[in-house]
Amino acid sequence: RAPITLPGLRAMKAAGEPVVMVTAYDYPSAVAAEHAEADIVLVGDSGAMTVLGYDSTVPATLDEMLMLTRAVRRGLRTPILIGDLPFGSYEVSDEQAIETSMRFVKEGGCHGVKLERGGRTSVARARAIVDAGIPVMGHVGLTPQTATALGGYKAQGRTGAEGATIVEQAAALQDAGCFSIVLECIPSPVTEALMPRINSSVVIGIGAGPATDGQVLVFHDLLGIREGKGAKFVKRYADLQDAMDAGVRAYAEEVRSRAYPAPEHGYAMTDDEIIALKV
Ligand code: KIV
Ligand code: NA
Repeated sequence: RAPITLPGLRAMKAAGEPVVMVTAYDYPSAVAAEHAEADIVLVGDSGAMTVLGYDSTVPATLDEMLMLTRAVRRGLRTPILIGDLPFGSYEVSDEQAIETSMRFVKEGGCHGVKLERGGRTSVARARAIVDAGIPVMGHVGLTPQTATALGGYKAQGRTGAEGATIVEQAAALQDAGCFSIVLECIPSPVTEALMPRINSSVVIGIGAGPATDGQVLVFHDLLGIREGKGAKFVKRYADLQDAMDAGVRAYAEEVRSRAYPAPEHGYAMTDDEIIALKV
C-alpha cells in the first residue's frame, strides 16, 4: 500500500470512505496498526495512562511523549502519524506551541500534531502551528486534559446550548486550518448537526456516533489491555490483558515447579568438551 497523504484523506472524506484511526505508543502497537492498514495513527497522550501508568493524561511530559513517538515511528510505513501535544506544552504562547510541534515533526517523525480543546486560545494556537507549516488536528467535546473543569470523564454537549457550542468550536478549528478534528464523547445528534458545517476537515469520532468521516479508539481499550470496563463507547475486540496474565502466570508456575526450562530449552556440549570442562 502507498503511504497515506492529506489529499488522500480529503478524497476519502469526499468519497464517503471511512477513515480508520487508532492510537499506538510503541513498536508492536505501531506494527499492528500498519498491518491493519490504519489511515491515521495517533501517539495519544492517553499513553500517559495506558503505558506509563499515570492516573490521568495531565502528567505526561513532552520528553516522554517524544520517546513513545520515536518507537511508533520505527514501526510505521504508510499511515499518517500524529503526535498529541501534552498538557503544558502548547498553552503558554504560539511560540511554545510551534516549538513543541516542531519537535514532534523533527525528532518524532510525525506528519502533524493534535491539540485539545476548542476555546479561543487553542484555535489561535492551531492557526499558528498551521502557519508554521505543520498540519494540525483539533479535538473537541470531552478533552481529558481539562476533565476536571468538564466535571470528569463524561459525555459533553448534552444540552442544546452546549451542543451548539461544540459545533461552533469545531467550525472555528476548521476555519483555523485544521486538516482534521476529533470529536470525543458527544451525543450522536450533535455530530449530525455538526457534519454539514465541516466540509474541509476530516472529522474523526470517538464516542460521537456513526455520522463522522472516521473513527478512533485507544489501542489498549479495543484490545482489552486494561483493568475495569472502560467507557460505554469502547468496543472490545480482544481480551489481551487476560491473555497476558494467563501467559505470565503459566510461566511463573513452571519456574516454580521446575517444568521450565525443559531439556529442549538448553544448550548441549560434546562429550569431549564436557571432559575438558571438568579438568
Ligand atoms: O490521547 C488519545 O488517545 C486521544 C484520542 C482518544 C483521540 O486523544
Ligand atoms: Na489525547
